[in-house]
Amino acid sequence: MSPTLRVSVIGGGGNVGAAIAFSLVVMQAPVEILLVDVSEKLAEGQALDIRDAAHLSPAQCRVGKFEEVGSSDVIVITAGARQNPGEPRSNLIDRNYVILKSIIDQIQPIKSSAVILMVTNPVDILTSIAQKLSGLPKSQVIGSGTFLDSGRLRNYLSRKLNMSSSSIHANMLGEHGDTQFVGWSIATIAGAPLLQYPAMKDVDLDEIEKTIANQAYDIIEAKGSTYFGVGYHVATLTRCILQDNRKVFPICNYVEKYGTYLSFPAVLGSDGATPVDLNLSKEEMSKLETCANNTKAICDKY
Ligand code: 2OP
Repeated sequence: MSPTLRVSVIGGGGNVGAAIAFSLVVMQAPVEILLVDVSEKLAEGQALDIRDAAHLSPAQCRVGKFEEVGSSDVIVITAGARQNPGEPRSNLIDRNYVILKSIIDQIQPIKSSAVILMVTNPVDILTSIAQKLSGLPKSQVIGSGTFLDSGRLRNYLSRKLNMSSSSIHANMLGEHGDTQFVGWSIATIAGAPLLQYPAMKDVDLDEIEKTIANQAYDIIEAKGSTYFGVGYHVATLTRCILQDNRKVFPICNYVEKYGTYLSFPAVLGSDGATPVDLNLSKEEMSKLETCANNTKAICDKY
């Protein structure tokens, strides 16, 4: 039986796009995955390779055309230039803006209920720009934001505290970039503040924050790019949208209180993202304000 839900992955010929598609297959998501890329040959190669696995899953995977994308339930955008070793994500803005504009032009008309999920960096800025270009409601255009960074944080703490990362509720906030920070004031274990946990007493919090923010640089230095981590995280968000799971994730979404897109916890479902109300510390709110001002200033130029 053919799946009725469709996900298009633009940039599907690349490693990030392919890792997202492969993760959806491994997750047994009942979905049709279209890999769309300016290089049809690369997309074809990835689709054939993924299809070798997909026969063991309800997911189906094939190459798609730009004109088929608009009818998708979720449109994942991964296409764009990627960082060189040591290069910040923010350097990519001009190159990736041009690519994003050409993609959005080619996929119109977009179904009014579709959700666009941006992955291309700098993701928080490009999510805001994708919303303007696409004309979809703000809640239906989101970005992977700091979901991956938060996973890296939970993974790090899990090893430090010898506890499953799923029992640690701690998030990186602000932006998926160099100014991201840990929301320590709202981090918990079993409902109790994380910072009151005995094993957290002598821990250098700034060091942890730095380690997490630098993790992508370390991977890029060693192997050129990151794709497995981001692939699985983005597939998790995609599945949550398709199944209307309404889980809370730290993703890039429009936060009315700050008047812009930010990486901030939101309820995610088939109608997109709704930010949750959080009691952050004054210092954390001021960090968010700084991220919001940066994003607004940059987006005003496009
Ligand atoms: C990552 O954090 C490079 O943004 C990509 O893995």
